[in-house]
Amino acid sequence: MKNSAIYPGSFDPLTNGHLDILQRAAQMFDKVVVTVAVNNKKTALFTGDERVKLIREAIKDKDWSSRVEIEQFTGLLINFARKQNINVLLRGVRQISDFEYEFRMALTNRRLAPEIDTVFLMPDEQLTFISGSIVREVAAWGGDLTSFVPDNVAVALRHKFKDHHENTFGKPAADDQS
Ligand code: PNS
Repeated sequence: MKNSAIYPGSFDPLTNGHLDILQRAAQMFDKVVVTVAVNNKKTALFTGDERVKLIREAIKDKDWSSRVEIEQFTGLLINFARKQNINVLLRGVRQISDFEYEFRMALTNRRLAPEIDTVFLMPDEQLTFISGSIVREVAAWGGDLTSFVPDNVAVALRHKFKDHHENTFGKPAADDQS
């Protein structure tokens, strides 16, 4: 389909960096399919359904959200893209260190599906250090997530790591307001 793009990733969870890329993409394309990979080898913190729900909640009030669809996929990305009849893949590149992996992945996808190309977008420079793994680590140790993820994702992360905090630091006392 012309003027549509797929924005694939683990989104475990959605970060402000992803949101920035998604906004840029939604202003560039008529339709952007956010494609949540649920088959990669990494053990995910959130289930596929949870990740989709978090993305849906995070964008629901954006004036570009009607141009965004959110799907889960397993298997090869190019097969998903072909099924959707979309031949543009979008990836965010934060810094040069991302590029080697992204370049290999883009060329592998193009070897497998010559009609499909990858377009790289850069997020706002203030967001270039944010990654899913950094966010998960900050969350695991109870750090302030405000500038890393949308509010609904911060709430979900706090909930996810509640048991971790309680097992590590003990349950808060009844009068502990912290
Ligand atoms: O957010 P991530 O983890 O960097 O996203 C990577 C992702 C999911 C886009 C990539 O691993 C992927 O496309 N996986 C599906 C399998 C596939 O098609 N691989 C591409 C050939 S290397």
